Amino acid sequence: MTRMTENAMIQEQFNDLSEKFERQFGRKPSFAAVAPGRVNIIGEHTDYNDGFVLPMAIERQTLIVADVRDDNEVRLRTTAFDDEAVFELNDDLSKGEPGWSNYLRGPLAYCFEKGIKPSGFDALLDSTVPTGGGLSSSASLEVAMATLAEAISGTKLDPVQKALLCQKAEHNFAGTPCGIMDQFISALGEEGSALLIDCRSYQTRQVKLDDPNVVVIIINSNKAHELSGGEYAERRSQCEEAAKILGVKALRDATLDQLKAAKDQMDDVTFKRAHHIITENDRTVKAADALDTGNYLTLGPLMFASHESMKNDFEITTPELDLLVSLAADMAELGVIGSRMTGGGFGGCTVTLAYTQNAERIMDIICSKYEQQTGVKPSPFITRPAQGAHQIQL
Ligand code: GLA
Repeated sequence: MTRMTENAMIQEQFNDLSEKFERQFGRKPSFAAVAPGRVNIIGEHTDYNDGFVLPMAIERQTLIVADVRDDNEVRLRTTAFDDEAVFELNDDLSKGEPGWSNYLRGPLAYCFEKGIKPSGFDALLDSTVPTGGGLSSSASLEVAMATLAEAISGTKLDPVQKALLCQKAEHNFAGTPCGIMDQFISALGEEGSALLIDCRSYQTRQVKLDDPNVVVIIINSNKAHELSGGEYAERRSQCEEAAKILGVKALRDATLDQLKAAKDQMDDVTFKRAHHIITENDRTVKAADALDTGNYLTLGPLMFASHESMKNDFEITTPELDLLVSLAADMAELGVIGSRMTGGGFGGCTVTLAYTQNAERIMDIICSKYEQQTGVKPSPFITRPAQGAHQIQL
C-alpha cells in the first residue's frame, strides 16, 4: 500500500474545502489553519495529576479556511452538519447554538481575553479526526480555531498559552474537566517525534519516533461504553481524594511505598486509582527513555503493563479494547512491539507499535478476528508523528 504524505493529505483536504468555501460564500478563502488530533503512546490520566504523558500528533486533522468580513460577525460552517453558527465577536462571547459551535466559540472567547482580536470572518471547517474515538477531535477543533484567530489578527500566541486557553475552552464551553495533554500536543506536536510532557512544569522533551522499521497502528474499536458520561470527572476526583489522603499536592508527588503505607486510610477503589497513576507515571518516563534509544524490548512490555493497569486499577477499558490488545499481544512473533488502549477510555482506540515489515498483515489479522468475535467492524489506520498546529500561507 502506498501512503500519502501528510502534506499531500492536507493539500487535498485544503483544495476540496476551498472549493466548497467558494461555492458557499461566493469568494475564495484567504486564511487557513490546521490542527491535528493525537494519539497517546503512554501516560493515561496522568496529565491532571501533574504527571508525565507521551503523546504524538497524528495525520488526521481539523482544517479551517476563512475570509474576513467588514463587520465583526462570525459565520461558521462545517462539512459535518448543515446548520450554521452566526454570532458577534466581542468581549462577552458565550455558549450558543448549534452545539458543535461551542468548540469554536470557546477558543475565540479566550483569544479575545488575551488580546487576540480578529475581525469578523466567514469560515468553513472540515475534520478528518474521528469523533468520539479518543483521538482528541475536540482539541483539534479548538486549537485550529485559536490558530485561525492568530492568523486573522496577525498576532502570535505563545504555543503553551494557546494550549492552555484551549483547555479552558474545553472546560467551560464543552464541559469536560480535561487535563492539558490533548490541546498541548495538538499545538506543539513535531513531525517525526512524540513529546514527553511534564504536565506540571510544561517542559517537553522531543522523543524521536522516526525509525522506518516501526509504525504506529491505531485501531478504533467503534464501540463506546454505554454509560460514558461522568466517569472522567469521577476518576479525576478520586485521584484528588487519594492525593489529599497522602498529603501531597498531586499524585505525581507520591511514591508507591507511600501509597502502600497509607492503604488502610483509603478504600480499595481510591487505592487502585492512585496505584494506576503512580505506576503509570513511572512507566511513561521509562517508555520515553526506551523509545529514545530504540529499546523496543523494554517499550513493548511497558505498553502492555499500562493497559493492564487501566483495565484493573483505573477501570477505564472496555471488553472490546481488551480484546484488541490481547489479539495484538498474540502477534509478538509477527512483529507487534506493544499495544494499549489510548485516550480517556470507555471506548475509542488502541495504539499498537509494530515492525513495519508485517504491519499491514498484523492490522488485517487483528481487525478480522475482532470483527469475527464482536460483530463490530473496527477502523484501523497507520500514522506517523505529525506536525502540530500551523497556518497555511495562501
Ligand atoms: C482525555 C483528556 C486528557 C487526558 C486523557 C487521558 O483525552 O482530554 O486531558 O486526561 O483523557 O489520559
